[in-house]
Amino acid sequence: MSSLPADLPENFGAAFGKLSGLTKLEVEDMKLMILLETAGEPLYEALSDGVESEEAKKLLLQNGREETAHAHRLKKAIETLTGENYEIPALADNPYGKKPAAIEVNVEMLRGLVQGETGGFALYQLYADNEENAEVAELLRQNGREEARHGERVEKVIELLAG
Ligand SMILES: [Fe+2]
Ligand SMILES: [Fe+2]
Repeated sequence: MSSLPADLPENFGAAFGKLSGLTKLEVEDMKLMILLETAGEPLYEALSDGVESEEAKKLLLQNGREETAHAHRLKKAIETLTGENYEIPALADNPYGKKPAAIEVNVEMLRGLVQGETGGFALYQLYADNEENAEVAELLRQNGREEARHGERVEKVIELLAG
């Protein structure tokens, strides 16, 4: 099975916008979500480079690793639904997966990130509610729960930056 989705929106924001408008994920949508999830790890790495506090770095890197884990749950979901093996595209083949150059981390952008994570929680719950396959629904719910936790970790980072 082809790893990349047939339709590739031109950037991360456009891809996220497409998925945000859906109430259920089809297999092709899951392939696109996998690209956004694996792109999350280098993004969090870049954010961790932009903070001084060791604890804040640790929290951001934990979030990043879990974004990659979310992609692995989606891989499992695809394989459950199709009965075929699916390989997650390498970061080098992911059009959204390049680690951004130095990011200037500030409270305002972190608040935006909290909102994004909280939105991710709600979105995964919605997808799960509309998924008929119980096993796949549970994988989506697990991702959602972790997105909520990511938001909490970023809140903690905001506190650490505020000193
Ligand atoms: Fe995620
Ligand atoms: Fe997340």
